[in-house]
Amino acid sequence: MQISASSGNNINGTIILPLYQDTKDTSQLSIGVPQSLKSQIEQVLSSGDFDGKESSTLTLYGSDSGKAMLIGLGKESKANGKTFRDAGATVIAKHSKSLGSDLTATLHGHDESNIVAFAEGMMLRDYRYDHYKKVDEVPPEFNVRLNCDEAITNTINTHLTQLNAIVSGVHLSRDLGNCPPNDMYPMAFADKADTWARDFPNATVEIISFEEAQRKGMGGLVAVGMGSARKPCMVIFTLNGEKKGKHPVLVGKGITFDTGGISLKPGANMDEMKYDMGGSATVFGTMHALASSGYEGKVVGITCMAENMPSSNAQRPGDVIKTLSGKTIEVLNTDAEGRLVLADGLWKAGTDFDAEYIIDFATLTGACVIALGHEATGLWSNNEAFSQRIHQASKDVDELAWPMPLLPAFEKDMTDSKIADTRNLGGTRWGGANTAAAFLKQFVPNQSDDEDAEQITWAHMDIAGTYWGASSNKMVGHGATGVHVRTLFKLITEQ
Ligand code: BES
Ligand code: MN
Ligand code: ZN
Repeated sequence: MQISASSGNNINGTIILPLYQDTKDTSQLSIGVPQSLKSQIEQVLSSGDFDGKESSTLTLYGSDSGKAMLIGLGKESKANGKTFRDAGATVIAKHSKSLGSDLTATLHGHDESNIVAFAEGMMLRDYRYDHYKKVDEVPPEFNVRLNCDEAITNTINTHLTQLNAIVSGVHLSRDLGNCPPNDMYPMAFADKADTWARDFPNATVEIISFEEAQRKGMGGLVAVGMGSARKPCMVIFTLNGEKKGKHPVLVGKGITFDTGGISLKPGANMDEMKYDMGGSATVFGTMHALASSGYEGKVVGITCMAENMPSSNAQRPGDVIKTLSGKTIEVLNTDAEGRLVLADGLWKAGTDFDAEYIIDFATLTGACVIALGHEATGLWSNNEAFSQRIHQASKDVDELAWPMPLLPAFEKDMTDSKIADTRNLGGTRWGGANTAAAFLKQFVPNQSDDEDAEQITWAHMDIAGTYWGASSNKMVGHGATGVHVRTLFKLITEQ
């Protein structure tokens, strides 16, 4: 999508006109609109044929061949950034070929932040995943003009440049998540990362192969991935690596397909387990958003890639594995595999880097989907203030992350193995998202070797319900959502 703000009144192509509920006077809003369309707009408003309810649209074909799409904003008193973002997304979702690819939104009189949100919605929703489809005709790229008040045109254009970077990160995450698992396997992800880094002189990608992971003692990653012919790997992204000092470290669960392993999953909807690398896609997408925006701080992303398959080489329930931390895990269920690969990723994050904080992203538990549905990500942290920061950033961008408890009882449950330091399954199935988080906490290193040193600031985000299937998310038609690239961009660059 080409998109820019302009202070002129020229209309290029189809008019997009956002209107509040019960708007009667359109004199300011329809500046530049040809007369025949203007009277049609006035007519549908006064007759009530278009009432401006949130997400309602009406397309008008003017007698002098001008076209317009009216988009409802709902009640003015209730409107906020989300209203405008949703409205922008709805315009693209409802757009039909006959409206053409040139669009001009008339946004005179609206706030700068609302106009930016409207643009963001259009940009985010302008996504399709059709690499595997025979397409007769590639639709032309949208060319969007935002007509707004002169005083804010320049700032809006600056925002749009940054939005381009952020949205390309979200779309990259979605592409990775939507990619079928026969083409998205651990080393394929690594190859994509490697190719990606060539475009950014300030980015590097290191790939830790299966053999190296074995040598280094990454027992969690190895155990999960060894049952597959597509071997596991760890991919480490570094942005602005030469910068000194503490920096964020992001960790992603990257199970390119989760069959459950020997603890095989039931067959129904198993195809959805291709999204089990959504955490790694979040990390990759965020690195891309940051790099393309020209962000100058140092950020490291660690993605733990493996395919969880049943085979004669696969790990068994009952195995005890030794992780990078030296701690052992009794594997009671091979379907609780995400936490095993993350155990190594988290330890690496805290010991090989100067982490200001660590955040891991994982489609970790079905229990989290039971708890929060598709409406919020589960958020656990060992630091209350940090949890609040993430919660706030997530709210600001409408990618809600909801605080969940990290209780000592959950930790006790996960360290209650008779024969190992930890176990990958709790004693009961209750609170399964919480016990998973409590398990991960065992693999977050301390800030120093001092006996009473505190743990590194860490948060865990369970995106099992929000990375896909989020039908109320207007930015997404279907498939992978690319959630939290925007949250992280905000958290890292603004807070
Ligand atoms: N990848 C799944 C979690 C998942 C389930 C994500 C549904 C999205 C939708 C994870 O590896 C898993 O299988 N978790 C088990 C854990 C259990 C065995 C303790 C689960 O949630 O059932
Ligand atoms: Mn699993
Ligand atoms: Zn999984």
